[in-house]
Amino acid sequence: MENQQHTGSPVATAAKAKPAFIDVRNVGQVFRTQSGGEVVALQDVNLTIGDGEFISVLGPSGCGKSTLMPILAGLASPTSGDVLMGGEPITGPGKDVGVVFQQPALFPWRTVLRNVTLSAEVLGLPKAAARQRAQELLDVVGLGHAGGMYPYELSGGMQQRVGIARALLHDPKLLLMDEPFGALDALTRENMGLELLRIWELSRKTVVFVTHSVSEALFLADRVVVMAARPGRVAEIHEVQVPRPRTLDHMSTPEFGEAAAYLRHLLGAKTGD
Ligand SMILES: Nc1ncnc2c1ncn2[C@@H]1O[C@H](COP(=O)(O)OP(=O)(O)OP(=O)(O)O)[C@@H](O)[C@H]1O
Ligand SMILES: [Mg+2]
Repeated sequence: MENQQHTGSPVATAAKAKPAFIDVRNVGQVFRTQSGGEVVALQDVNLTIGDGEFISVLGPSGCGKSTLMPILAGLASPTSGDVLMGGEPITGPGKDVGVVFQQPALFPWRTVLRNVTLSAEVLGLPKAAARQRAQELLDVVGLGHAGGMYPYELSGGMQQRVGIARALLHDPKLLLMDEPFGALDALTRENMGLELLRIWELSRKTVVFVTHSVSEALFLADRVVVMAARPGRVAEIHEVQVPRPRTLDHMSTPEFGEAAAYLRHLLGAKTGD
């Protein structure tokens, strides 16, 4: 059952045929605990992601989803294995990557707008254009009015949306999102999902999207990577057969329901969740 592909439709086959952009090869990550023990957070993870592909990652708490993200971003080195981007090993943080962390990690002394323009400053991009783009992105995430506010004045969901705008500012080719909608109410969450798909369809970024929601994973992705814990590993890769462009109506089709039931079964059977 390990690393098994769940075969799919012509749509899924097309997704699979895209040229490899990210190549995760035998990646392992072992952490030392305070008590001197070891945690195998990731073991032998292999994953090829096509250019412009949308990947969702599902799995129980502690299976290594968040551990994988900084490795893909070049912010952390795995204990074993390697990651290639466009055929080249990732050796450090790249300007083509945008990350939305599980915790929004905004700078408290910067306004919302200046939190969003941060990557432009780091990358030395023109200031005026960055401010204009930041304002556009704040409008997209429903925070057009909040540019002058400080993070402490925002709710958790609002802070998370600032994090999303910040990750998009420099128009990265690879967008890594770790439970970006976890703190949002159901309606905002659905709208943000639709907005993300709209952005993705326009810009064709490669997206890796971690979520605990089976229906969100299916709604967004070309393929869903199902992970298992202890040790953290890829249990199965499921090709999503829902046609694009997607609307919320797709979620109420029998095919969607069957795929969701299948993934829930996998999560239950393999992880005890
Ligand atoms: N810096 C660290 N030091 C020691 N152990 C760590 C460290 N980071 C993560 N771990 C351990 O690695 C495993 C994977 O953690 P990770 O945060 O990647 O899980 P996750 O799948 O993102 O979980 P969740 O769904 O709860 O966010 C866990 O057992 C965790 O305790
Ligand atoms: Mg996590």
